[in-house]
Amino acid sequence: MIKKKITKVGVLTSGGDAPGMNAAIRAVVRTGLYYGLDMYGIMRGYSGMYENDIFQMDSRSVANIIQRGGTILKTARCKEFYQPEGRKIAYENLKKNGIDGLVIIGGDGSFNGAQKFSNEFDIPCIGLPGTIDKDIAGTDFTIGFDTAVNTAIRAIDKIRDTMDAHDRLFIVEVMGRDAGYIALHSGIGTGAEHILIPERRTNLDELVNSLSEKEKRKKLVNLVVVTEGDEYGGAEGVSKLVKEKIPNADVRIAILGHIQRGGAPTAMDRYIASRMGYHAIECLMEGTHNVMVGIVDNKMKYTPLNKAVKAKQQVSEEWLKIAKVLAS
Ligand code: F6P
Repeated sequence: MIKKKITKVGVLTSGGDAPGMNAAIRAVVRTGLYYGLDMYGIMRGYSGMYENDIFQMDSRSVANIIQRGGTILKTARCKEFYQPEGRKIAYENLKKNGIDGLVIIGGDGSFNGAQKFSNEFDIPCIGLPGTIDKDIAGTDFTIGFDTAVNTAIRAIDKIRDTMDAHDRLFIVEVMGRDAGYIALHSGIGTGAEHILIPERRTNLDELVNSLSEKEKRKKLVNLVVVTEGDEYGGAEGVSKLVKEKIPNADVRIAILGHIQRGGAPTAMDRYIASRMGYHAIECLMEGTHNVMVGIVDNKMKYTPLNKAVKAKQQVSEEWLKIAKVLAS
């Protein structure tokens, strides 16, 4: 089959925003323009496709954004796009603008939509993994993860100062609906005594025994980093259970929340966003369609969108062991 030549490309950001999305938009637009393509921004994810909120972008449209968090294209979850009728309207709007290729920057939910759309219509889609949660297979890192972990680490370091001054047990909740990568990486990076993630069942008795035993040894400063999606209900749930079992413990909680999603992207996020954005356009031009652009072992890796959707990354046993050994 001879692949159609792409001439006009739309770019959108979808799902939860992630620091580095702007750097990715910039890379997609500038690379497309470099190769003589017409570039279009689509506002608020699939909602802009459905509502025809689409505008042409030039090089200046993406000037001075590489260092900014959030996304200049804004983001949303579009319920109409879940329905075939909604996707048809979105397709017709792309056709009206002459758009014949799409770059979607988002998480697995966004790729799910892209997968359905590209099955139904003749518009090739390229996904770029943009989520702080890092819960997508086919890439070592997602755009935004490194910034979120650095934000969490800076916040936890501050908590440690006051925790240490008061000899307290602190339970800090970090983001991650179904994935514990932010907890694992920020927990290791701050020397947490315990890290609770949804991918592994927490043995609460073991946790309580370990904390009680430390209390006896007068090791009163203990940091527990818990994922919001943990089975015991994040920091609130874990603190309630710990207080029931160790009534004397001086426990405080902190929920870091959405500060982890904002702020200037780290060097690493700017770098991977730029690299992935560049390769998204290369893929569209070369006819490598309906894939997610990832980086594995510092090399580009193209994963079919349906695999990026279904497969969740496996938490590495090595990291779990390191976390345990270093906290002992
Ligand atoms: O983008 C991922 C994420 O930040 C998750 O870690 C979190 O559970 C979720 O988004 C929160 O979404 P919202 O901002 O819609 O509450």
